[in-house]
This record gives sequence, C-alpha cells and structure tokens, in this order.
Amino acid sequence: MELPYAESYKIKMIEPVYRSTRKDREAWIREAGYNLFALKSDHVYIDLLTDSGTGAMSQEQWSAMMRADESYAGARSFHRLKHAVEDITGFPYLLPTHQGRAAENVLFSVLVKPGDIIPGNSHFDTTKGHIESRKAVALDCTIDDAKDTQKEVPFKGNVSIEKLEKALNQHNDKIPFILITVTNNTAGGQPVSMENIRDVHRLAQKFGKPVVMDSARFAENAYFIKTREAGYKDKSMKSIVREMFSYADAMTMSSKKDAIVNMGGFIATRRKDWFDQASVYTIVFEGYLTYGGMSGRDMEALAVGLHEGVEFDYLETRIRQVQYLGDKLDEYGVCYQRPAGGHAIFVDALKLLPNVPREEFPAQTACVELYLEGGVRGVEIGAVLADRDPVSRENRYPELELLRLAIPRRVYTNNHMDVVAAALKNVKDRSEQIVHGYKIVHEAPIMRHFTCVFDPVK
Ligand code: F0G
Repeated sequence: MELPYAESYKIKMIEPVYRSTRKDREAWIREAGYNLFALKSDHVYIDLLTDSGTGAMSQEQWSAMMRADESYAGARSFHRLKHAVEDITGFPYLLPTHQGRAAENVLFSVLVKPGDIIPGNSHFDTTKGHIESRKAVALDCTIDDAKDTQKEVPFKGNVSIEKLEKALNQHNDKIPFILITVTNNTAGGQPVSMENIRDVHRLAQKFGKPVVMDSARFAENAYFIKTREAGYKDKSMKSIVREMFSYADAMTMSSKKDAIVNMGGFIATRRKDWFDQASVYTIVFEGYLTYGGMSGRDMEALAVGLHEGVEFDYLETRIRQVQYLGDKLDEYGVCYQRPAGGHAIFVDALKLLPNVPREEFPAQTACVELYLEGGVRGVEIGAVLADRDPVSRENRYPELELLRLAIPRRVYTNNHMDVVAAALKNVKDRSEQIVHGYKIVHEAPIMRHFTCVFDPVK
C-alpha cells in the first residue's frame, strides 16, 4: 500500500497546553471584554491568533544563537545575516529592524509623504497604518475574485493590472511606488503568481515607478508558484524566490513569519540611495545599522531560519496542514476563503453566522463563539479591524467578514486541527440561535482591534 504523508520533522521539545471548561471560558472572555487579544494565553487551548513569531525554532536555529556576537557595531552575526539575506533574495543592502512594521516605518519615512497614493494588493493593517498616519492613501487594487470566498482561483492574491494601470494613469505624480504583498494576507493568505508580479513590474517600468514587496510570507508564495504555476514545477525554491525579488527594488520583511523566528524584521534593497536615506531613520527609530533592534542572537536565528523557511519539504508539511484543516471544514460544511491559504484558513463569518447583523460584528461574534466552544483563539478580519474612515470617522464595512485561523509553523499536530474543525462545526450547528453579536464600548483612535472592549448586544 502507498505510505501516507507525514511531517518532515520530529518533536524534541514540548510545551504543555491546557484544556478548560466552557464555564471557565465564559468567565475569562467576559473579563477580557470579549476581545480575544485580552485573554491570557494560559486560558487558550489552541492558539491560532497569529502565525507571527509563534513558530517553533529548529535545533539549528537554537544552536546558532549560542555563537552570537553581541557587539554593538559590525557584529559577526550581522554579517552572517546580511550574507543569508543576499543569498536568498539577491538584495545587497540590508537594514535590520525589530519587526515588520518597524521596517515599514523606516522605509516609508523615506518614501511616503502627505497626499501620496500607494497602490497594492490589500495592504496589511500596519502597512496601511504607516501610510495613513503619513496622510497618504493605501489604494487597494486586488483582483475582484478575492471578494468571492467560494470562487476557486489559484492566485487569488493577485494585483488587478487594470486597476493598477488606471491608478497610474489617474494619479501618476502622486504614486511614489507600488506595493506587492506576498502572500496576500488580508485576502486569505492567497498567493500572487509570478506572471502577475512580472506584469506589475512591467507596468511599473512603463510608468517609471519602483516596486516594494511586503515579503512576510514570500516563501509560502514561492511554494504556491512551484506547485500551481505552469513552468515552475521543476525549478528550485531558491530560484523561484530569487526571480520573485528580481522584480522588486526593495522588500520589507516581518521575519516572524516565513523566517520562523520569534522576533525580527528587515529592509533589503538594491537601491543604494534608499539604503543611505533609510539608514538615518534606522538609527533614530531602531538602533545602529548592524543590529537595528535585533540582538546578535536574533540575527543568528534569522540567518538560519531564512534558509529553512524556503526548504520545500518543510513548506510542504506546513501548507498541507493548512489544507488538512480546510478539508475537515469541507466535510462539515463550514465555508472559508477558497482555496486554503498559505498560513491560515479564513472562515466566512457571514455564512457561518448569517443572522448576526453587520453592525454587531459577525466575525468578532464567530471568534467569541469558537473560543467558548473549544478554547480555540482565532482573530477577527472584518469591520472591527477595518476600523473607522480616517476622515468621516464612520465605521468601514469591508466586503468580507472573516474569522482567521492562523496556524503557527511546526507547532500543532493535525489532531489539534481536528479539534478546531469540530468546534467550528458545533458553532455552525447552533448558528440558528446566534442572532446577536457585540457592540463596542471602548475603542482606541487607531488600530482599535487590539484593545477594543465589547459588550454583548443581548
Ligand atoms: N505585512 C504583513 C503581510 C503582515 O502579515 C504583517 C504582520 C506585517 C507586515 C507586520 O509585521 O507584525 O512583524 O510588525 N502580520 C501579523 C499577522 C501580525 O498576524 O498577520 P510585524
């Protein structure tokens, strides 16, 4: 008989997790103001809040940390990292930062000014925050297919070339660069095809615009190119990654995702002028140029993680696990953004809880229900996250209300995925009775989702 597929690694170190009762969870979520960010992690059984900084490091990463050079300037660890970044991405200039949003802060301090327009495919919320806080506009040019959760297209994260071309024609002098996010987190961890990246690059060249890549999940994107796009099946992961970055002038990186470290980020570029200008902001915001907010230990782990993160066998295990959860949800009739994404399953909350009004935050309600049901923590990607319009201060209601289940790298087994799927099935089975959601009773002026306090509507 054909042998089944199994993980490309085994477990050397474990961390206990605790189940709890529904009664416990009812008290804990009430104390947390029905915001899952405010829960203690000990009160969570399976934590799918994020795949960011939550991965399990390898024996190679832990051992590399032991040889770290903690010199303030010119550390060996920095040079090892610089070598790894250049080897993987092809970019010769590197500025380390403490995480991805810090890379955005430093680079956008150089590139974004008030009144600018930055077109891209569904800017991540911190990216949008760094654009909007500079009184500029993040213009979403994602393909329309991404809005239909049930439509199966292989590269649902793509940039719409028509929308981008229109923006470039209409606002040419206001556009400092084009931003491509790989994979497209907000649209469901959906990949961007090489063809699309190439087309964006071609258009950018035509209009004389640089391209920046938000690369948090570049390796998962490359895996999808290898497995789904014609002409890439026999190419190595490394050569695919190199080709992706060959179409960009610079990248911002949250290393907490595809480089499988708990903390870290960087900017890498081929533009010496950007590097020189951004260096000033690195020193002001992050630290000296050869550490920029990272310890030598962090940089060592990252240098190894970058290589491990692009290994095909590891990526296959990872993406298969996300797919496994998707397949279980198919079995139970729970709708999610199709096909399964790279780092997460995005459950369609409007389909899961059709009776909860939009003003009562169906995706937030789904998050709370799933936690109550199984101690599983997901995150809302809906109207709470979309926040208020910066000018009118009205709530923004995005087309999709999603409950994201982000799977940490190398952490949970498929048995955990079975629990998550069963808990969601139970929520679905009770959905007739779930007719009310939550109202916000406290919110911050920007990025409210982290600290919002809710009350049940009934
Ligand atoms: N870009 C993308 C596409 C992201 O998903 C994130 C973070 C960032 C930039 C910012 O990086 O957290 O290191 O400052 N996403 C996390 C998430 C938080 O849960 O999706 P950071």
